[in-house]
Amino acid sequence: MNKSEMEINNFIDSNKQRFIDELIDLLRIPSVSADSKFKDDVAKAANFLKDKLLAAGADLAEIHETAGHPVVYGEKIIDPQLPTVLVYGHYDVQPADPYELWDSPPFDPLIKDERIYARGACDDKGQMYMHIKAFEAMTSTNSLACNMKFMIEGEEEVGSDNLEHFVRENKDKLNADVILISDTSIISNDNPSITVGLRGLSYLEVEVTGPNRDLHSGVYGGAVANPINTLCEMISSLKDENGHITIPGFYDKVEELTKDERNALNEAPFDLASYKKELDIDQIHGEDGYTTLERVGVRPTLDVNGIWGGYIGEGAKTVLPSKAHAKISMRLVPNQDSEEITKLFTEHFKSLAPESVKVKVTPHHGGQPAVTKTDSIAYKAASKAFEDAWGKTPIPTRDGGSIPIVAMFKSELGLNTVLMGFGLDSDAIHSPNESYGIFNYIKGIETIVLFHQHFARLKKIE
Ligand code: BES
Ligand code: MN
Ligand code: MN
Repeated sequence: MNKSEMEINNFIDSNKQRFIDELIDLLRIPSVSADSKFKDDVAKAANFLKDKLLAAGADLAEIHETAGHPVVYGEKIIDPQLPTVLVYGHYDVQPADPYELWDSPPFDPLIKDERIYARGACDDKGQMYMHIKAFEAMTSTNSLACNMKFMIEGEEEVGSDNLEHFVRENKDKLNADVILISDTSIISNDNPSITVGLRGLSYLEVEVTGPNRDLHSGVYGGAVANPINTLCEMISSLKDENGHITIPGFYDKVEELTKDERNALNEAPFDLASYKKELDIDQIHGEDGYTTLERVGVRPTLDVNGIWGGYIGEGAKTVLPSKAHAKISMRLVPNQDSEEITKLFTEHFKSLAPESVKVKVTPHHGGQPAVTKTDSIAYKAASKAFEDAWGKTPIPTRDGGSIPIVAMFKSELGLNTVLMGFGLDSDAIHSPNESYGIFNYIKGIETIVLFHQHFARLKKIE
């Protein structure tokens, strides 16, 4: 460790409690992007970040209104000759529902066993805010190694639709050498990793209509199609007994990995027994012929995210419902195209419907799959940063989740992304009792600082 690194780490160490307190203040703001009831809170979170960017030393921080929630942009340009790192993150969070399954209120953060419990603690407020604190640590110790730009959005959890427009309209402003994102996970604190692949997404809602009104299930039952029964049959037929998706053309563009690539992927530490134990399941489930790491990392899948219709109140009501609904997502891998898969699904799903019902399919958001490079200077800088801070070379992994903007950064700005995440699967993102370890939060800040230093150094000798 050189003198400047020691000074920065001392700064982080002596400001640790304040860094935690500020994150807790941010977590108190219920910035749920999906629910219009929280619109003002989403705007409040954007303003909070703008103020914190300025306080951390940004020359400029602005709120950009969009057709949806605002984008926060900030920058500090110290020397046009130096490389520029553009940090992307999101300040919106998933809905906290169901509230009754939380052990403490989702927007009243609680620290227990060295962890911060709150919606967004890890995804992505905790992980995004590490970058603002790393930035502050560097500006305060006069050790900023790269120019810095921040683009923090409020619509990631609802598909980043308006961000695409913002990126297209602000290409010069966003000009950089690399995009840096902390919004993924590592294998474990003993096995740090860098995400090199994300799945894409196609998300749709379906509505099946039977009779024009809810009917008495005795008077009409057996003689009129029940749309809930029909919807279940249609959904069941979307996968065969081997776990293959039956939509014609679905696999046509799926990139098959070579034997070597599969072997490399399966070398990552993975303990099936603790995986099952953590989820309290007796058996795993999935596409035949693939391991769990392959099933989530490099194979596409289809899942029902929600299904409803008929009577779900207390007691029993005898009703043959008029309508049934479901929200269905497909996770995609290279080189599947989100729009094309949405189209294939829609055609196939409609063709499945018997004449006794009518079917409506409405697409929601989507996103393209992304693979990032491991032979870039940015990847090497991230790898070195982990080595220095965690004492281990990080393992490249392919994650199952999606961050739609990553593919867009490549196609719109021609920029590569480094996915330097610090979350753990056990942080329970999107679930009740989401949390983030204070160790990861602080260690992550140190690792981010090291990334900037290695990136500047490696760029110089390029
Ligand atoms: N941070 C996650 C994505 C993620 C989590 C990637 C863990 C890798 C590991 C992100 O906030 C997210 O939840 N994305 C959504 C996509 C979106 C279009 C709703 C997702 O994956 O469901
Ligand atoms: Mn996220
Ligand atoms: Mn998320």
